[in-house]
Amino acid sequence: MKTSWHPVLFDAMAKLRKRQALIIAKRNEDRRPVKHLRAFSTKEAATFLGITESYLRVKIAEGDGFPQGEKSGSTRWFTLQEINRAREHLAAKSHDRYRVGKGEFDRPFVITGANYKGGVGKSTITVHLAQYLALRGYRVLLVDLDAQGSTTSLFGLDPTWQVGFGENGELLPGGATINAWIDRREGEDRQAAEQAIVETYWPNIDLVCANARLQHVESLLAARKNSDRSTFGADRPYDMELKGFVEHVGKPYDVVIFDTRPDISLLTLNAFTASNGLLLPILPSSVDLRSMADFLGYLGKIEQHNQQFLGSDWEGWQFIKIFCNRYVNTSRPQADMLESIEKDVHKDLRLADHMVETSALATAGNIRWTLYEHAPAKSEDRSHKRALAAMDAIGLSIENEILAYWGRAKKDRSAASQLMPA
Ligand SMILES: Nc1ncnc2c1ncn2[C@@H]1O[C@H](COP(=O)(O)OP(=O)(O)OP(=O)(O)O)[C@@H](O)[C@H]1O
Ligand SMILES: [Mg+2]
Repeated sequence: MKTSWHPVLFDAMAKLRKRQALIIAKRNEDRRPVKHLRAFSTKEAATFLGITESYLRVKIAEGDGFPQGEKSGSTRWFTLQEINRAREHLAAKSHDRYRVGKGEFDRPFVITGANYKGGVGKSTITVHLAQYLALRGYRVLLVDLDAQGSTTSLFGLDPTWQVGFGENGELLPGGATINAWIDRREGEDRQAAEQAIVETYWPNIDLVCANARLQHVESLLAARKNSDRSTFGADRPYDMELKGFVEHVGKPYDVVIFDTRPDISLLTLNAFTASNGLLLPILPSSVDLRSMADFLGYLGKIEQHNQQFLGSDWEGWQFIKIFCNRYVNTSRPQADMLESIEKDVHKDLRLADHMVETSALATAGNIRWTLYEHAPAKSEDRSHKRALAAMDAIGLSIENEILAYWGRAKKDRSAASQLMPA
């Protein structure tokens, strides 16, 4: 047996990092953009705007400053910026129902994707939910709270090389992680928030990235938890930092989404306390069922604690929704498992829709595309469409929860993409 592992561990770390740096350097050399957002067809644009395709055509023909997209063959292609401008154009022409997002005095809706089981789809779903909402005009802040940085990577940023501070102390393109906020000094709120939040190639999505240094935040919060609260001042309790962050930065956003890591960390606890809704993906297997049972008990205890100690700081969770990810409708064991969930778990705790297993989420080369980003080849079309429909259904359920929070009418499932002009 080796007496010390650390020399081999450090050696492997250095070599792997070097290899990854070479891959990134090569990519930059090729001048290939790491990620970009594709244009959307007239049909897609109409769906996102909530109007019929024919009404969109009428508006395009009318001109009057309405975005025209780019014609290619028989269809037009619109950037998301153009779709957003089209929405503003429709709303300005007194169609108040085209206005998307919170009202002047509403608060942003805060959602956490969580499960202390790993690999169940927390990052996949939180990123897709952010993109579903962004396509419909909501302004989203997505916060990666997992040191693995899966969400960060899905937005084309490398957690090791592009997040945090560079060798000369310069802020890298991915910004400074939530560390900047948790570790800020008195009077540095604005600077810390500005360092943490970066824009993405999605016009309505801003991001707080993550990397391995997030571990540092856990020790900071743990130290605060274990010390006399007065040491840090009553305004900086260890479990209210993310709620404070949302209050400070939330104004320009309609929705804030936290992606958490696969365990119960103090940062995750912070996200729970800041949240209005919890989205809990689960894989339909018996192992996942057992860990979900423990997890639900834990959430119950957090609520009891918050109700007892947080007073008016605790808004309560409007929804907690478990849903099945990677569902295969031909699998008998999965069907049995789902039946048990339906029997044992109160319907208010469940989403009616499942996210299907799809090859469309597989990695292509070094870059991973989401279902909304990826323009499928004809051969992949059916699987991609099925996965999109499943994700859209989940997105709509959550969108309706958000609308209910602001006291707005819910969207009808069948009418959601087929609104007639006023
Ligand atoms: N519906 C799906 N169909 C096919 N693959 C999926 C699906 N959902 C997630 N995956 C894949 O499963 C893997 C794990 O997903 P993801 O990273 O979202 O899980 P996670 O819960 O965030 O993991 P972690 O606990 O490590 O944070 C990824 O490779 C992802 O592409
Ligand atoms: Mg994850």
